[in-house]
Amino acid sequence: MKRRGLFAALLTVALVVTVAPVAHAAAAEPPGPSSTADAQLAAVPPMGFNNWNAFGCEVNEALIQQTADVFVSSGLKDAGYEYVNIDDCWSQRERGADGRLVADPVKFPNGIRGVADYVHGKGLKLGIYGDAGTKTCAGYPGSLGHEELDARTWAEWGVDYLKYDNCNNQSDGSQADYIRRYTAMRDAIAAAGRPMVYSICEWGTSKPWTWANGVGQLWRTTGDISDNWPSLRSIIAQNAPLYPYAGPGHWNDPDMLEIGNGEMTGTEYRTHMSMWAMMAAPLIIGTDLRTASAETLAILGNRQIIAVDQDRLGVQGTVVSDDAGLMVLDKPLANGDHAIALYNSTDTLATVGVKASATGLRRAPAYRMRDLWTGGVLQAKTTISAAVPAHGTVVYRVRPLAGPHAVAPSVTVGAALATLVPGTGGATLSTTVTNRGAGELRDVAVAAQAPAGWTLTATTPTTGRRLRTDKSLAVAWTVGVPEGTPAGRYPIALTATYGWGPPGRTAHSESELVSTVVSAPADGNRHLSTVAPVDSHNARGPVEVDQGNGGDTGGDGSLITIAGRVYTRGLGTTTASEIRYYLGGRCSRLSTDVGIDDAAPSTVPATFTVYADETAAATSGPVNSGDAPRSLVADLTGATWLRLATVSGDAGTGAATAVQTDWAAPVLTCGGAAPDDPVLPESRTLFSFESGTDGWTTANPPDGEGVARSADFHTDGGYGLAVTTSAGGNWFGSRPAAPLDLSGRTTFKFDLRAGGAGTVGEIAVQVGSAGSWCQGGFWTWTNPGASRTVTRHLTDIDCPLGVTLDLSQVTGIWIFLNTGGVHHVDNLRVE
Ligand code: GLA
Repeated sequence: MKRRGLFAALLTVALVVTVAPVAHAAAAEPPGPSSTADAQLAAVPPMGFNNWNAFGCEVNEALIQQTADVFVSSGLKDAGYEYVNIDDCWSQRERGADGRLVADPVKFPNGIRGVADYVHGKGLKLGIYGDAGTKTCAGYPGSLGHEELDARTWAEWGVDYLKYDNCNNQSDGSQADYIRRYTAMRDAIAAAGRPMVYSICEWGTSKPWTWANGVGQLWRTTGDISDNWPSLRSIIAQNAPLYPYAGPGHWNDPDMLEIGNGEMTGTEYRTHMSMWAMMAAPLIIGTDLRTASAETLAILGNRQIIAVDQDRLGVQGTVVSDDAGLMVLDKPLANGDHAIALYNSTDTLATVGVKASATGLRRAPAYRMRDLWTGGVLQAKTTISAAVPAHGTVVYRVRPLAGPHAVAPSVTVGAALATLVPGTGGATLSTTVTNRGAGELRDVAVAAQAPAGWTLTATTPTTGRRLRTDKSLAVAWTVGVPEGTPAGRYPIALTATYGWGPPGRTAHSESELVSTVVSAPADGNRHLSTVAPVDSHNARGPVEVDQGNGGDTGGDGSLITIAGRVYTRGLGTTTASEIRYYLGGRCSRLSTDVGIDDAAPSTVPATFTVYADETAAATSGPVNSGDAPRSLVADLTGATWLRLATVSGDAGTGAATAVQTDWAAPVLTCGGAAPDDPVLPESRTLFSFESGTDGWTTANPPDGEGVARSADFHTDGGYGLAVTTSAGGNWFGSRPAAPLDLSGRTTFKFDLRAGGAGTVGEIAVQVGSAGSWCQGGFWTWTNPGASRTVTRHLTDIDCPLGVTLDLSQVTGIWIFLNTGGVHHVDNLRVE
């Protein structure tokens, strides 16, 4: 989903007639029960909707009302969804003359009071957004120092839920300051006299799980979620271990749902819903419900899964095991059942299981397990397990079972397969059928089905006459992929059939294994960061592309920086790391700089090694923190595989210290290209600020704002641009003397180092002879001082009705920056 057009109003500011805030009868709602009955407010995790994930700043009355309508018409209200929440950007840019927050009269013509009345009329509740700082993340007025008035205003409007954010917080960073700022709003809500669920949103910064029970009913534990698998995986990894801190009226909040937003698979979205339920997380929908697909509504509306989340015992699932990407959670439920989740975060099918004796389940002759996604009911004797697809989660509701013999046994079909190379002799597939049921299986047979044209032959027997409890039938197969098969992921279907229980009764179990077919890189010199690896392992978070490894979640690093030199291309890793590429004998050379990133000085050295197949083709020897970048050139001639490895400590010792190791500007040469041929993808610099400010200025009258050439931050040449913004922000850019022809380009990039309060931004271009303004690609960074390459696809840019994005006639290029402070920009380019 795209977030659109945040700052459209700014350029037309001079034309907008100031609209007086709509006056409402000041009659306050009758005061509700004392808000000190806090725990009652969220005895189970809150359920609802928030517009941020799908709409960003594009919130308005119609959206909120229509969402409330869909809650009712789709059955989501009956399923338990209750709060319809407004996020950032709902207010005017300035407080009213009386010091109060004022709803944006264009977005909310009937005010927040009007929309609250509408939502209440549907039997639902309304949420709003505020910030424990001077400005919200998008630059609207914050509540720091205005807590009482703002809480009173929201109470008068009929607000039932407050999400309270942490941007522009003026904090000294101490936990005491966080407690002070967030407690001030709790007290203000209590004084205002209307019960409100109080949702603390400080991204886990001050470890709120250690102090916020009794302050708010829920607290964010992580940075913002985004609609992609690495984000989901990393948030689960951070939130799951916090189970001791949650309970009725005080919940860990791993952020709002992305289900339905389009960038994850159904399997991944079901994992999202499953794990949120297991973690007793708030279920706040973040997609456009008015256009949601049947699949999205089915995931969000799964009553069995919702019942796990909303169980009145209020226990966050215990992490029973967490090993090599496979996690088991155990959540006791009020009726004595246990929800057991088997979560596979790896990229391949895996069998995940747990002995019932390692969970809180009572000892029993067997266990009845209901799959909460398929509805299927099975029995297992000692081990609750399933073959779980890559990125998938199976959730069973389990209870002791006295007489297992009428219930079908749990039989898992697992498999393992190496990477497939088209046109070679074939790879080995191994399948394992395991009987977890009480009672023996008869006449077990396993079959596998590969895509058309592939060969698949069993090399060991595929049948077994009997399979007792906890025994397996293992079969080996050879898989061949025809020459010319494009690289990609291909399914292999596996089926086991067997008899069980009384004679004549049969059943089957199925799994899908997704195989990986590789192909060699295209000819030419290429930035290695644009070539897809086959797999990678990294000690902390994912391998970062074109930025350093922040050592935590995806996207948390700054631009790769080694001894003061900034690189915009490369791979950011943390030791021990390995990245593997398939070359198929078609490449000849890798050149790269290496070094330890300045962002995380280390007392231990690190060693970088480039392997061509199993031979070390280049190695750095020990590199220390602060050392100048070291250049390596590896001869890859004839190699099938390329592997980049970093370890900490002296070569070979591999001491377990995590060191941030950068492969800076690595270039791969394939198919007979010469090392000095151009490196692809080629980029064209539009502004590099070497001799001045390149005509840059502000689009709207400056409010203390301006630009200056600066040597403080540069990613090409020796200079960049220092941009001073006001908190409200402005557009910065240039109208070149002659229109630019950017036809055929797909991507717009520039390097940015955010000022002390982070940034919120967007890009715009002016096109055609009329200089029409097209804009989009909103971003928000909450980490001050971080540097990144901002990459925006030209398709992120939207034009007004009737204007087409004619890239052959670009008459202006603009960047919106706000939050106040000095930001640095360099090397605006297109690719
Ligand atoms: C922060 C919050 C998000 C969202 C935005 C709004 O990033 O964590 O959930 O509210 O601000 O600007």
